Amino acid sequence: MKSFFSLLSCDFLICRLSPLFYMLLLTGFALQQCTSPEVGHWKEAEKEAFSEELMIVSSHPLAVEAGLEIYERGGNVFDAAVAVQFALAVVYPRAGNLGGGGFAIIRTEAGEIFAQDHREVAPGAAFREMYLDSLGQPIEGLSLRGHLASGVPGTVAGLIDIHEKFGQLQPFSILLEPAIQYASEGFRISATEAERLNRFLDQFIDANTRGNAFTAKTIWEEGDLLLQPELAKTLEAIATYGADGFYSGWVADSLKAEMERGNGIINYDDLKNYQPEWRKPISFQFNKFELHSMPPPSSGGVLLNQLFHLVEKEEICCEETWDTRSAHHLLEASRLGFALRADHLGDPESMMLSTGQLTSAIRLDSLWQLFDPHSAGDGLRYVEKDFTLPEAYETTHTSIADSRGNAISLTTTLNSNFGSKVVVGGAGFFMNNEMDDFSILPGLPNQFGLLGSEVNSVKPGRRMLSSMTPTIVEKEGDFYMAIGSPGGPTIISAVFQVLLRDFLFDLDLNDNISRPRFHQQAFPKATRIENEVFSEAVKEELKSRGHKMEVVDRMAVVKVVKKSAGGKLQGAGDKRNPDDHAAGIDLRK
Ligand code: DON
Repeated sequence: MKSFFSLLSCDFLICRLSPLFYMLLLTGFALQQCTSPEVGHWKEAEKEAFSEELMIVSSHPLAVEAGLEIYERGGNVFDAAVAVQFALAVVYPRAGNLGGGGFAIIRTEAGEIFAQDHREVAPGAAFREMYLDSLGQPIEGLSLRGHLASGVPGTVAGLIDIHEKFGQLQPFSILLEPAIQYASEGFRISATEAERLNRFLDQFIDANTRGNAFTAKTIWEEGDLLLQPELAKTLEAIATYGADGFYSGWVADSLKAEMERGNGIINYDDLKNYQPEWRKPISFQFNKFELHSMPPPSSGGVLLNQLFHLVEKEEICCEETWDTRSAHHLLEASRLGFALRADHLGDPESMMLSTGQLTSAIRLDSLWQLFDPHSAGDGLRYVEKDFTLPEAYETTHTSIADSRGNAISLTTTLNSNFGSKVVVGGAGFFMNNEMDDFSILPGLPNQFGLLGSEVNSVKPGRRMLSSMTPTIVEKEGDFYMAIGSPGGPTIISAVFQVLLRDFLFDLDLNDNISRPRFHQQAFPKATRIENEVFSEAVKEELKSRGHKMEVVDRMAVVKVVKKSAGGKLQGAGDKRNPDDHAAGIDLRK
């Protein structure tokens, strides 16, 4: 703690010695720059923790702290999850959110499993061609940046619904106290957060009609205090009025006014009509394990089911690294899965084949017939377009479990870093750019290179297809693991590979999460690999079978709570995100 603050002593001295200091202190700008370094929240990240009682792993240490605090004050796993998520909206602004959406898989100690969908929906005034010009061609960036890029946010409604159904701590407002404190007292940003804020500053200025907390400085540095008084007011409105504090009242007025200033289309009816949905989880067996994952509008559960089904057809080797036969098998299974995703998946209300049909054993077996054991499939033949896989941590994931078997796996997102880059004026939160997860022109890849069909085209009230894969695993009827990740389509690959290594080789959790990964999504044909995921010899053999490979820096940031053999809860964050944090608590000791 001390050494961190000593980094700031130079700033501090300048503040104290400058004759302008007292004058500057009167302005908000000065407050942002020169607040005493003893002020503001900060916590170092830890990647691994053990506990007998409660474990939380999430994208930021201060958010994990918020969850622990709520548990200590008498909350349960689900109260803690809600507190973590509201805190992430403050301390992890590039992805934590009020203006986004997500999914949760929940397990109660009675062994019941639930899937909650609080994904954004297309506004009532949305239409299929809204991102196309008069020639029917996509308008560059329109579904990604600015006011038209946003779906109607679902996170606030989703969290409140989780608290109403599963929470125990009352009143609800307590759960927002840590988040409100972080927003109003400020917190010290990490090096990664500073780098992100600087990288996107021009876009914030471009997309916004007003100044905001994020444009308060021209260069952000590690340890700077980020104060978000407008966001604190919004959180207070939610604490006081629940969902009405966000979907109506002055926050809704601010959102509507923001939309009008930037030619956006989200209106009062869209906000008033937003509802989370409870869905039937995708549940299936692999060896001794029962997996429960997210159904459409996520593709995560369907693809996990398919991947594990195809894995059963082959002996997978080896613990240290995949051999050629296994690598080929896993890559082709993934290629098939993503081809199916492109053709069939979307909002369940629009799908031609139901989730049940898509995951039936007959259908999964029939996929096996498409499998060439010797050469790489062609993938999909659609429009070629260059793209780089976006980074790995523009989404949040939280895994929490207690010793009684209550657990939650919760993934929420703004889609890209800082979503659409639009901050709602006066209300202080970023809006999502989730509309890009629709197929804005069926057949044309989106920012992740993902293809989709008509079932995922833009339509009012429709939910856009996702890859988020919050998952809970049971072993012989008991809680075993809560897992999930950010990373767009690479989420599915990462969650699958960590689970597979755990199930087959029982690897140490940290070692498992650190292992390099691969990602094959049918289009483009090349497999994205983290260096050394395959040995040089295996790479050569794969190439001779027609596989192409492209090395990327990193993919996905997996967060896991696992019940270890001794019965303790083990939490593990991913070294790929410096801010990932795992912490537990043992109050009953
Ligand atoms: O729902 C989806 O699949 C995407 N919007 C998630 C985006 C994401 O994970 C970006 N993070 N790296």
